[in-house]
Amino acid sequence: MKGLILSGGSGTRLRPLTHTRAKQLLPIVGAPILHHILDSLEVAGIRETVILISPETGDLVRESCGSSWGSMNLEYVVQDQPLGLAHAVATARPLLGDDPFLLFLGDNVLKGGIKKYADEFHSKNMESMVLLSKVDKPQQFGVAIFEGEKLVGMIEKPKNPPSDLALVGIYFFNNKIHKIIENLKPSNRGEYEITDAIQGLIDDSVKVHHMRVDGWWKDTGLPEDLIEANKLLLEDVQTKVDGVVSGGRITGKVIVEKGAKIENSYIEGPVYIGKNSIVKNSNISAGTSIGKNCRINTVDIGNSIIMDNCILSAVSYPMSNCLIGEGCTVKGNIDTRLNVVLGDRSVLEVPD
Ligand code: DAU
Repeated sequence: MKGLILSGGSGTRLRPLTHTRAKQLLPIVGAPILHHILDSLEVAGIRETVILISPETGDLVRESCGSSWGSMNLEYVVQDQPLGLAHAVATARPLLGDDPFLLFLGDNVLKGGIKKYADEFHSKNMESMVLLSKVDKPQQFGVAIFEGEKLVGMIEKPKNPPSDLALVGIYFFNNKIHKIIENLKPSNRGEYEITDAIQGLIDDSVKVHHMRVDGWWKDTGLPEDLIEANKLLLEDVQTKVDGVVSGGRITGKVIVEKGAKIENSYIEGPVYIGKNSIVKNSNISAGTSIGKNCRINTVDIGNSIIMDNCILSAVSYPMSNCLIGEGCTVKGNIDTRLNVVLGDRSVLEVPD
């Protein structure tokens, strides 16, 4: 089985952060989402993966992932315009050939990875399988339609959802999907929908199997989703302190990478602190990831993502639910609880 990861699209809902990078390269727990996905494909035993990229951010994705990932070979294909998930599959078709493949949307994160689902697809010799998860707002997803226990259809972002079971952005197909996509018409919103293509399989009497995911799953379309995915992934980390800790106290699960220094600070895990970052006189609380080479001094922050090379200094009020881009500076007597999304290289400073 091959892998196909979609890393195209425009990421408009994550602006300003996506003005400077692909949304699939936004970091959670110290690594881009795409790297977490590649890890899970490799663990599932996939050896050939195609990454679909956009003309705008494709080079950044290539640079970040390279030509191999452990024992997995990586190839790239450019989608000229984001015309939909089924269009993306058609674009990658020459590299997929007639092999069965796993389609993984590059902004999805799934607890525990995909090995058990891939094993099920193989061992039962299935033609197609979708993963489903119960959600609070099914209107925002592809939604499964059931008659009793039987999956009889699916509909993309319905106004009146027929169930609360959303299609997770992870799908298994054999080559029958390609024929359906060749004859697909664009939806009302002008996209070639993978949901409609799977409906086409069902209409052609191809058995579409389904499995419910048993842990959490997150589509990181919005800043709050990214912060939530970071928190959920942090809950599964194992403590590892490779940096130097002096004074203060560390509780809970905490990763402190090599070259990092924690001085006179209270770290209440789960927390991730990246390579060569220095944290002084601060409180860092649960759900926070700090990237590489940051300087954090006299700050109280929780449930946030701070990307690489940031300076956070003497912020007088607590910060929470923040998404701070690379190379940002936040300083001074900001007299309100901070809850912000800052694009790369932003400066938020209040002089004394
Ligand atoms: O996350 C699960 C949902 O993903 C499913 O429930 C929906 O049925 C499915 O349509 C999809 O909905 P989204 O609105 O979340 O899709 P989005 O446009 O965000 O695209 C998902 C990923 O695929 C994202 O990483 C960008 C990439 N993409 C998207 C399009 C439309 C491409 O690479 N090319 C494209 O043409």
